[in-house]
Order: sequence, then structure tokens, then C-alpha cells
Amino acid sequence: MGAPPSAATPPTTGEFLDSVLQQRSDLFRGRRDVLRESYVPTRLPHRDHQIHQVAQILAPALRGDQPSNLLIYGKIGTGKTAVVAQVRQEIEKRARADDHLKFVSINCGNIDTAYILLQTIGNAFAEEEIDRIPTGWALDRVQAAMRRLLDANGGIAIVVLDEIDRLVARSGDAVLYTLGQLNTELESARIVLIGISNDLKFTNGLDARVKSRLNEEKILFPPYDAPQLQDILRERAKEAFKDGVVDPGVIERCAAYAALENGDARRALALLRLAAEMAERDRAKRIMPDHVVKAKNRLEQDIIGECCRTLPSHCKVLFYAILQAYEHQRRGVLTGDVYAGYAKLCQRLGLQPLHTRSISNHLSELETLGLIRATIVSRGRGGRTREIVVDVPVPETMPFLEEDPLLAPVARPRGRGQTLLTNFDNPNRFGAPF
Ligand SMILES: Nc1ncnc2c1ncn2[C@@H]1O[C@H](COP(=O)(O)OP(=O)(O)O)[C@@H](O)[C@H]1O
Ligand SMILES: [Mg+2]
Repeated sequence: MGAPPSAATPPTTGEFLDSVLQQRSDLFRGRRDVLRESYVPTRLPHRDHQIHQVAQILAPALRGDQPSNLLIYGKIGTGKTAVVAQVRQEIEKRARADDHLKFVSINCGNIDTAYILLQTIGNAFAEEEIDRIPTGWALDRVQAAMRRLLDANGGIAIVVLDEIDRLVARSGDAVLYTLGQLNTELESARIVLIGISNDLKFTNGLDARVKSRLNEEKILFPPYDAPQLQDILRERAKEAFKDGVVDPGVIERCAAYAALENGDARRALALLRLAAEMAERDRAKRIMPDHVVKAKNRLEQDIIGECCRTLPSHCKVLFYAILQAYEHQRRGVLTGDVYAGYAKLCQRLGLQPLHTRSISNHLSELETLGLIRATIVSRGRGGRTREIVVDVPVPETMPFLEEDPLLAPVARPRGRGQTLLTNFDNPNRFGAPF
């Protein structure tokens, strides 16, 4: 690098960017997106068994035979999406044009209604603009159009419904019944359904007919343990970083943290990526275990922020009331006081407070998200109530709620230098400290 710019001449934006780029190249080998979620690695360690199972179930499609429907389930970050994407790639490489074998992968997280799902599947087969299914038709017309589009293609359609549990939670399982019945109505085409669920109990609530159709084959993806996560991270680190820049202990620490979080490989990779970013920010020549600790704090804060932002409005007000009371008392808050604080906030905000029962549901939601913990306490003469403890750092969490214009009238003034991303250290929040 050249001489540092003197204080009198600050660097131009271009020079500044160049210097940032220059620092970065100390650690990364080349493509930085190797650690991003969108990157599909060529090898998936510790998933050979699942890859073979999926491949074996789908292989008949390459001979023109119809494979069974398949349900894949396992916790988040266990490689479900990645495994199916890889098997799809390999099958597509081997399919001949006259096989008319076609994959359609849909992330149901973005799909709200049966209409949009059927439309999306149908339109994946539309060759001309004019064949596409528009919005605003009656549902049976969409179904008929979708059948025609599939039959026009004629071969086997493998429809991957990723995050299928979210679709069903939102719009019920009637659309899965429709899809499951389709083969009795199609003339030349055949449809195969692959459902992927992050919810292990997904099939419990399903209609029996839907369940038996979808469950023809079933594969469980178990969580990764710490040594398996280490292998996954090591492989990625080799691709992402220059030789020798990852200090011993970094991979182990990322893997150990993620193993505590249900063996989530996504979490492990995010930690490694953030640790590298922390190292760059420190202008360090190597990524050290301390950077992982910083990365973990940062990631937890991002997750808390994301949780807060997506809470329903009244839940935000309720959580804000809890944070206020907790900050004031510096110990557990009884539910009676929470209700009173919430009602007072609603009044100041001009909102109609919810009934006790809804508030109670919102409290459960906050607890499920890990933002609060509620314990039963007795209060003499057999009376019992719940005491609420906040499980996140209060001053750092309040700004995430105050971002919402709804809470602006009661928000504390932003102090000078107060940022949303102050670094905090609360090793007890998610599992054991190191
Ligand atoms: N066995 C593995 N080897 C390498 N990377 C993996 C492996 N399993 C998961 N990943 C990576 O972890 C992240 C999460 O995996 P994903 O397939 O999206 O999980 P799921 O769909 O089960 O939530 C992705 O970036 C994926 O590439
Ligand atoms: Mg997935």
C-alpha cells in the first residue's frame, strides 16, 4: 500500500473504496459469495445417505417411470434445500430433451394462496406469453389451465414445494389435495410432489388423504453435530480464504455455537462469514477466535432485530411495555404489571388495547421467539401469577421497536452516538458461554 494520506487531504471516495478492497484481499481468496447462503457447494459432506435416498427415489424419472411422491423433513439448516438442488442438477444433466422431464422448484414461503401456487406451477410450463395464467380467474379455471399446460409438456413434472409447512399454515392443505389428485386427471403428463418441511410435526395436522399421498416416501434430515459442522466449514473455508488465514480454533468455535443452535449449518456459515468481516474491520491478517465471539454477538443482534421488526403491532407495544418495566425495575415483571403497562402505552398511542386472552397469546409468542421467559411464582395464600424476565439486552433491543412509526410517540429520544448496532456481550443468551 502507498503512504497513508495526510490529514490535510482526505481520500477521495474512489481511493477510499480502493483501500477497502485492498484490505479485503488479505483474507479472501477470490469470490466472496462462497460463504453466502445462495452459493450451492459441489460437495455436501455428511449428506451422502440422504443424497442417495433422494436420487434413488427420483431416478425412475430418467427412465420415463413415475417416481413416488416424497416428503423431506428436518430442522432448519440441515441441508434439505441444498440436497434437493444438487440431485436436481445431476438429474437434469442426465435427462435427454425427449424425456420431457421438468423440475419446478417453488419456495412456498413467498406463496400466500392456492391460486398463486397453481398459477406458478402452470406458468412454469407456459412456452408463450399467451399461454400464461393471469391473475383474477376462478380457481377451477386456473386448475384446468394448469392441467392443460402440464399435458402439453407431456412428460414427468417434478414439483418441489420447499417450506411447504409455511404454505399449509397460511392457506390450509386443500391445495395439496388438489395437486395429489392431479394424476387421475392428467392425460399425458405425470406430476411428482416433493414437499420439504422445516416443521417436524408437519404431517400431524394434515387431512389423512393428503398425508398418505405426500408420504409415499419420507426422509428425515437429522441435525448436524459439532464435528460434522466443522467438516462443512473446513471445506467452505478452503474455497473462501487464502491459506493460513484462519486461526486454529475458529472453525471449532463456529461449529460449537451452531451445534447449540440445533445443528444449523446456515448459522455456522453465517458465523464464519461475519467473523471474517470482523477480522477485516480490525485490519487483522488472520481470523481469530475473538472475531467469532464478536460475530456471534452481531448475529444474535441481527436476529433479535429481525424478530422485533416482524412482530405484529400489538405484540410490539406489549414487548415495549415489558422492556420499559424491566428497565425500570431491573428484575422480573409480574403479568399484572405488564398488562397495566401495556394498557397505558395503548392509551398514549391512541390504540384500543387487546383482551387479556390475546395478550396472553402474544406473551407466548414472545416466549417462543426467545425474547422473554415467563415463570410461575406463588404469591401467598395459594395465589399464583407469572413473572416475566427479558432474555435480550434491553437498551440494545428498544431501538428495534422504536424504528416503527407506531411507537414513535413514546420512543426515547435518540442519544448522540447511539446506534442500532452497539456491540454487546451477553454470552448467556443462546446456550452455554465459552
Ligand atoms: N452438508 C453440507 N455441506 C455443505 N454445506 C451445507 C451442508 N448442509 C447445508 N449446507 C449449507 O448450509 C446452508 C443451509 O442449508 P439448506 O439446505 O438451506 O438447509 P435447510 O433447507 O434444511 O434449511 C446452505 O448455505 C447450504 O449450502
Ligand atoms: Mg430450506
